[in-house]
Amino acid sequence: MSWQNIVLVGFMGTGKSTVGLTLEEALKWKLIDVDQAIVEREGLSIPDIFSTRGEAAFRAIESEVLETIMARSEQIVATGGGAVLAERNRESMSRNGLVVALKASAETIVARVSGDTNRPLLQGNPAEFVPILLEKRKGAYDFADVEIDTDLLTAQEIAGLIVQQMK
Ligand code: S3P
Repeated sequence: MSWQNIVLVGFMGTGKSTVGLTLEEALKWKLIDVDQAIVEREGLSIPDIFSTRGEAAFRAIESEVLETIMARSEQIVATGGGAVLAERNRESMSRNGLVVALKASAETIVARVSGDTNRPLLQGNPAEFVPILLEKRKGAYDFADVEIDTDLLTAQEIAGLIVQQMK
């Protein structure tokens, strides 16, 4: 089967951007970061969009931007952790690419995102909010075609597993 796109989904801090960069090298497909596309379109940082317009407005922009991106092909699409919450988004990802869910334990995620001020949903306190949000998002990534536990793997190893799945 030849895939149109690779779509990376997963909770914050599961390595979507890092693995995306490694895949970009390996496949020579362009990496499109959905959060970055949103920031460029709006001319505002993610925290600023959340604080001035609210999460619902952010989600609406995210869906629009994702739809435009998913209409193209031969890209690696790194999505934001909450892009999977809308059915419309899950459908367009599944229709137009191999959807890969990256997973990690709460401990790994907290370690990876600590000190990060760019994730408004964590409210500057990942140790408190990562477990709460992980629980809320339970099952949200299960629609993916492939699931990879990233705790003990390098980005190279994860990218290698994904490339194997494309065959
Ligand atoms: C979000 C994840 C973030 C970003 C926004 C909301 C979420 O992306 O889209 O802060 O709801 O999980 P990353 O997963 O790239 O951090």
